[in-house]
Amino acid sequence: MREVHRVGLIGCGWMAPFHVAALQSLGDRARIVWAADPVRERAEAVALPAGARSLTDYHKGLGEVDCVFVMVPHHLHHPITLDCFRAGCHVLLEKPIATSVEQADEMIAAAERAGKAFMVGYQHRYKNCVQQFKKILDSGRYGKPFLLEGVMDSSMKGYALGWIARKETLGGGVFFSSSPHLLDVMLFVGGEVQSLRMVGTRGGVAMEGEDTAACVMKFRSGMIGVARDTWASPRCRTWYTLHAACEKAHVTLTTTPLGDLARDAHRCAWVTRIVADGGTEEVLLESGEGLDVLPEIQHFFNCVDSGCRPQTDGHMARKLIALILQAYRDAEADGAN
Ligand SMILES: NC(=O)c1ccc[n+]([C@@H]2O[C@H](COP(=O)([O-])OP(=O)(O)OC[C@H]3O[C@@H](n4cnc5c(N)ncnc54)[C@H](O)[C@@H]3O)[C@@H](O)[C@H]2O)c1
Repeated sequence: MREVHRVGLIGCGWMAPFHVAALQSLGDRARIVWAADPVRERAEAVALPAGARSLTDYHKGLGEVDCVFVMVPHHLHHPITLDCFRAGCHVLLEKPIATSVEQADEMIAAAERAGKAFMVGYQHRYKNCVQQFKKILDSGRYGKPFLLEGVMDSSMKGYALGWIARKETLGGGVFFSSSPHLLDVMLFVGGEVQSLRMVGTRGGVAMEGEDTAACVMKFRSGMIGVARDTWASPRCRTWYTLHAACEKAHVTLTTTPLGDLARDAHRCAWVTRIVADGGTEEVLLESGEGLDVLPEIQHFFNCVDSGCRPQTDGHMARKLIALILQAYRDAEADGAN
């Protein structure tokens, strides 16, 4: 019989309700034991509907759980994840892995020493719509893809961003924090990247790093990739778009929250569509998946149960920040950010 996983949640801010909702839908596969946040009201708001305890210090709960979900500001990913491995827990860590490659290496080593699962939450590749998008391209039905474009478009102007506004706590700008959601999926779909360059600018969000970034990449397959991401959109149009130009058709995936993304994302409805257009438009998938982290969490528990390595494990997540930090260094050197 499968074990019921006892889960602790560290960090009870914007992202936490998505994880709580997904965990609650898993029935007896997992039970939230506690939720921790130094801001007591946040811990209580997340823990109470799930029937769990709220803590202001996560250290007090580590001995009671076998899995921990870490959802805290980026500069805390490294110390908190190390604490969890020291306590013998499996860790599902929100993206990105850390703010430096050196920290990522220590976290990977700690997971290996502890013999515990370590997964970083790049949820998009696990979703049915992205799996379908990749399958459609891999099937060859629309010919070879030669251009892959990823776009994220959201509006963060006017929100109090706190730690997100500071480079030291975020790790960079939008390209460090949000664009990896595009890059992870683009590497999943397109394979190894041979070269990548970024440029960044400011569109009026009150933050130290760039609020708008674009990057181009060349895949070993010959395909080129373009990723554009802004938090400074005058109005959020379509939150997440993937577009592949194939020899015989454009294949486009769009995911849009039907409400305010920053304020209401876990309460509002979402639509996801995949459309192929090779002269006649064909809707290939329409669903309400949105920012559902359930497939990611199921993958995590499957890996914990089987001992298999998660697809977005520490090594994959380290590869992403290594690419990103190198692209920042190149951009700083030629004044492009
Ligand atoms: N996967 C996604 O689509 C997605 C979207 C948004 C955010 N995120 C990620 O989720 C993580 C959290 O982001 P957020 O938007 O929820 O931020 P947030 O600021 O809304 O929440 C972070 C919470 O962590 C708490 N915290 C700070 N120090 C703590 C500590 N020592 N112990 C416990 N809690 C502590 C804060 O009090 C706050 O409530 C980040 O890694 C972020 O990149 C992921």
